[in-house]
Amino acid sequence: MSHAKPTPELLGRLADLGVEGLYGRSLLLTREWSLPELETLATLAELLEVLDRDGVPVDLFPNELHLALFFDSSTRTRSSWAGAAARLGARPVVVDGSATQVGHGETAEETGTMLGMNAHALGIRHDLVLGEGNRFMREAKSGIDRYLESVGSRRVVPLVNLQCDIDHPTQTLADWLWLRERFPEGLAGRTLAVTWAYSPSYAKPLSVPQGLITLLTRFGMHIRLAHPEGYQLTPESMELAASLANESGGSFDLTRSMDEAFDAADVVYPKSWGPYELMLERVEASRAGEQTRFEEIEGQALAQNQLHRDWICNEERMAATRSGDALYMHCLPADIGDEVTAGVAARARLDLARQANKKLYVIMAVLAAAKEPELVHRLRVLAESR
Ligand code: CP
Repeated sequence: MSHAKPTPELLGRLADLGVEGLYGRSLLLTREWSLPELETLATLAELLEVLDRDGVPVDLFPNELHLALFFDSSTRTRSSWAGAAARLGARPVVVDGSATQVGHGETAEETGTMLGMNAHALGIRHDLVLGEGNRFMREAKSGIDRYLESVGSRRVVPLVNLQCDIDHPTQTLADWLWLRERFPEGLAGRTLAVTWAYSPSYAKPLSVPQGLITLLTRFGMHIRLAHPEGYQLTPESMELAASLANESGGSFDLTRSMDEAFDAADVVYPKSWGPYELMLERVEASRAGEQTRFEEIEGQALAQNQLHRDWICNEERMAATRSGDALYMHCLPADIGDEVTAGVAARARLDLARQANKKLYVIMAVLAAAKEPELVHRLRVLAESR
């Protein structure tokens, strides 16, 4: 059951928050957005969801091309990008990174220039190699902006991080929207367990747990991070999470025990990620273009994961959460039977779908705010024309 506010109230709030301040903004890391900016984005996403559920077309950008470039697999983010562009009246095109000339040495800046000269928005997923993805995005954005400036174009082409090595901002913002809906009284004081969980499928990126601890510590939550030895996150993310928790009046604690993290938690977010040292070795293999070594490292990571098969979200652990009824979250896809038991996953299935669906509205909100200078006026006209 949704408790969405009425459209006029959301429009009024958006005007008060000054959504026009987000004009021209790209989304590269949530930590680069202030709390008022995040609040504005969340309000806009909420409004766009209400309008969509009410069947109000929000076709702000007809005849535009919204391109997304994926260097990794995706179900949810890819379809959220396409769904967002289509609802905004633009044409979505999703390009497989391996089908571009990047593998032949085309630079990120040149790629950005080439895509940006044709497109009106660009999304990128580049998440597999630490130290590379976010840098690629910034260089691509620089390529776009320098090209547009050189031809005197005032076209705004925002870049949206669809998951990099540091953060997965459209995911964590979707997670935040879902938490706001589930805890309308506020998140301050709520306890969230972000824990590692066993996966036999692949060495998953570090960006989701890093994104979670550097976003949700900003709202006064008590975040417990749990992982086995050797699965640490980057020192920068850990230091930032500690400092943000301190500023917000929340807390940030590290434990080696999944049970300790789950104890009386309000929300649990158990998911896998790759062993840190091997993820660093992958950087060298990637830079040297050693595909065989890359695959060997993947095998070693999965072998290391095997040592921690008992890190699973199961009925016993869920029973130890607050009232035995914590909100179970996962960015998906989850390894059923490994990261989480089939029973826990089945009970959460619709909640997980609702969590995932928020990403569509986050992407719509980022693009609408970045590209439409008269956004409140245009949304009011569209809403009132129904
Ligand atoms: N959670 C998430 O980003 O899903 P996809 O990898 O399917 O996009």
